[in-house]
Amino acid sequence: MSTKTNKLVTLDEYIIQAQNRFPGATGELSQLLRDIGLAAKIISREVNKAGITNLLGVDGSTNFHGESVKKLDLFADQQLISALDRSLITCMVISEENDGIVRLNSQGGKYIVYLDPLDGSSNIDVNVSIGSIFSIYVREARFDPKLEESDALQPGIRQVAAGYVLYGSSTIMCYTTGIGVSAFTLDPSIGEFILSEDKFKIPDHGRIYSINEGSYNSWDLGLKNYIKYCQEEDDETGRPYSARYIGSMVADIHRTLVKGGIFIYPSSRRYPNGKLRLMYECNPLSFIIEQAGGIATDGSTRIMEIQPKAIHERTPIYVGSKQNVEKAMEYLEKYDEVSA
Ligand code: AHG
Ligand code: MN
Ligand code: MN
Repeated sequence: MSTKTNKLVTLDEYIIQAQNRFPGATGELSQLLRDIGLAAKIISREVNKAGITNLLGVDGSTNFHGESVKKLDLFADQQLISALDRSLITCMVISEENDGIVRLNSQGGKYIVYLDPLDGSSNIDVNVSIGSIFSIYVREARFDPKLEESDALQPGIRQVAAGYVLYGSSTIMCYTTGIGVSAFTLDPSIGEFILSEDKFKIPDHGRIYSINEGSYNSWDLGLKNYIKYCQEEDDETGRPYSARYIGSMVADIHRTLVKGGIFIYPSSRRYPNGKLRLMYECNPLSFIIEQAGGIATDGSTRIMEIQPKAIHERTPIYVGSKQNVEKAMEYLEKYDEVSA
């Protein structure tokens, strides 16, 4: 019998090992990822005892998007921003919870970080998975003392790292620096994120479609027909596909990453440009999905190639397994031609 044990690799060890593979690396990005990991542990702890510590429920205010703010939204926002402020390498943060840019102490810092501190807020009070999302850019005009919103308007292809933390049945942190996707599971007994998946790959095809069908009546014909295709019977492609929709994008994307399939948040009458935010929801999760071998598009343009015009702008999104997203695009194109 072998006595060999698998060595557990912590998030911090993994980040340092990855950094050592790049001799010129300054270690700043590694520090930033570790800071986010630390904030994630604190948020995870509070999420798990939110009912006991009176952190459930609304804060009583609405944010500038007009959405009701939950206490955990604010808690997560504060934890992440103060973690990023501590190591003086981030010059600015853009968060869903703040209307304008947040300039940090180190305005000469190298990195710009976008945050959705708590994704899936409406699921907080019902004990359903929620998450945090981050997206990291390098500030281009690094030594210009004036730090403006325009510094942050970079397309997703310029992300140097991105990821999410999912507070689910376990807490998982998943990130990419552009060389594959790694996932870590929080072991609460030792308070460490442990490597659980290196080089995450999304299946090329999956049997799940994920969309809020309540808006069916206001979809375009191409999308209506694609969803009908998902529901038809066909043994070869394993249809009808199953419908799954959690309502926390992080959780829906994590399932899509593991099992394959497609996640869609389209334009509708209520949300003509889609609901989800380009910079702190769609770009980082598209970077993860692409790095795992999948596709993310707004219906015609690759999400990560969209040139942002505003920090809080929205976009429709079709994201997931290659074959599923390609099939959806076939339907959009076909019915676009018909209606032209
Ligand atoms: P947030 O809680 O950060 O505002 O995000 C909620 C988002 C996203 O997580 C989810 O995919 C979507 O809202 C669900 O919207 P619908 O309820 O319109 O389906
Ligand atoms: Mn969100
Ligand atoms: Mn949010």
